[in-house]
Amino acid sequence: MSAAPPAARLPRHLAVIMDGNGRWAERRQRPRTLGHRAGAKAVQVCVDYCLDRGIEALTLFAFSSENWNRPQEEVGALMKLFLRMLDSEVDELHRRGVRVAFIGERAQFPEAIRTRMAQAEAAAPAQPRLVLTIAAGYGGRWDIAQACRHLAAEAAAGRLDPDHIDEALVGRHVGLADLPAPDLFIRTGGDLRISNFLLWQLAYTELWFTETLWPDLDRTVLDAALADFADRERRFGLTSAQVAGSNA
Ligand code: IPE
Ligand code: IPE
Ligand code: MG
Repeated sequence: MSAAPPAARLPRHLAVIMDGNGRWAERRQRPRTLGHRAGAKAVQVCVDYCLDRGIEALTLFAFSSENWNRPQEEVGALMKLFLRMLDSEVDELHRRGVRVAFIGERAQFPEAIRTRMAQAEAAAPAQPRLVLTIAAGYGGRWDIAQACRHLAAEAAAGRLDPDHIDEALVGRHVGLADLPAPDLFIRTGGDLRISNFLLWQLAYTELWFTETLWPDLDRTVLDAALADFADRERRFGLTSAQVAGSNA
């Protein structure tokens, strides 16, 4: 029997750090890049799962600001894989009703990748079943800094009164602004950290960690995360009694 929770307690937005590709390959005495290729297959498992379960938004951490500092061969192999995935998967995702979007600093990516990112975003289905956001060249600190830069420019141009900068306005200038905040965060690979993922957006997200390495992801792991999520009480700073009252 599936451990799946009832639909009412499903996360609307799932955010995932896909970690453990390198270790998956190293355990097999294979090059790390093989782990990244295996990880690409796990992305499909995760997208299929979200479509089946009716999750509205999936945000995947594919490449961090700091990952640019990895050995050049690994970064090169990741760029090739990224380009190949964009070429082979995006049309099929659109056909299945998936809107594809990207967050992160694009300037450092090769032109061919930037072009395909823009094309993938432009051809979005009108009424998506799932919004898939790929965080690439992304860092939570970068995200907050770019929002600050934008707001400072507006203020300097006389279009924004600094007194009007509040949490809602900042929230509209960071990544994922058009989506509900992530309800559930999953990190594979066993490390208990955020690694500069969505620092602003995860303020009240439920965190869930698993030792499973990303290429080994399967539906059982995702069922376990969702079952755990369904059992949690989200209080958002209130008391348990208040939360119970608002659900009554
Ligand atoms: C995650 O897997 C993928 C990227 C960061 C691009 P890793 O490559 O970090 O795998 P581990 O953590 O070294 O096993
Ligand atoms: C986080 O994983 C980034 C991605 C999965 C894309 P890392 O492997 O880069 O994180 P650290 O270095 O273990 O914190
Ligand atoms: Mg890692």
